Amino acid sequence: MTTTPEGVSLGMPQLPAPDYPDDVRARLERDAADVIARYPDSRSALLPLLHLMQSEEGHVTRTGIRFCAEVLGLTTAEVTAVATFYSMYRRRPSGDYQVGVCTNTLCAVMGGDAIFEALQDHLSVGNGETTGDGKVTLEHIECNAACDFAPVVMVNWEFFDNQTVDSAKRLVDDLRAGAPVAPTRGAPLCTFKDTARILAGFPDERPGAVEASGGAGSASLAGLRLARGETAPARVVHPRDGGPQDTPHDQVHEPSPAEHLSSHDAPHDTSASDPAHPAGPAAEEGE
Ligand code: FES
Repeated sequence: MTTTPEGVSLGMPQLPAPDYPDDVRARLERDAADVIARYPDSRSALLPLLHLMQSEEGHVTRTGIRFCAEVLGLTTAEVTAVATFYSMYRRRPSGDYQVGVCTNTLCAVMGGDAIFEALQDHLSVGNGETTGDGKVTLEHIECNAACDFAPVVMVNWEFFDNQTVDSAKRLVDDLRAGAPVAPTRGAPLCTFKDTARILAGFPDERPGAVEASGGAGSASLAGLRLARGETAPARVVHPRDGGPQDTPHDQVHEPSPAEHLSSHDAPHDTSASDPAHPAGPAAEEGE
């Protein structure tokens, strides 16, 4: 039976989950204590603790759920309810790099559906599946509030803007080959487990990560400039092959409307979202 730290039985059967090795458990307990101490009510630490579990095993296992329940005085059912509600928590083993293709409305019509379909063929995996080398897990993702850079691909929640089928294929090839890969903006890339530890609230050790700008880009600010009566904004067209990271900013040409259409005006072939692998709650491990 699950018991609270005070020894009170909560009447819930324990999940049939193995224990962490003693050294791992001791380390996780120290980390968990750091997280719990940030909150006046310990149960408020559940979300970061689930990220901590992912930083250990790459996904939230039954062992991780039991650990969270034990250190927070919750039932495993309560922890499971949270872990299965939020899509950022994985219930199945997955790769070093979570490649999320936004197939929400704007990205979908801008090419996100085509990118997702092409990556499935290129990687021979479906939604939520991982390549045989354990490097890449491919997922549909919902809008990441980067619609002005559509279509967007996220790798471990870092932005890769204005993608094409070809640039997305190169991206996953580089990830699998261990080649240097830089997000379009924001902090440098790290593995999913390292990302999970940062999301649990531990210091971000990536060089330059703290200094990296999370500010709005020129595409996001175009409407604001227009509303302020500043010069008519040029439509923002980053190079779609190779990405803006390959081109010094002062060499990126931002044409006026009279010059040619923006990427948002350019028609793209789209396809229906993959009916064989619809986005949705992932099955639990072992199912
Ligand atoms: S629709 Fe893709 S980021 Fe908003």
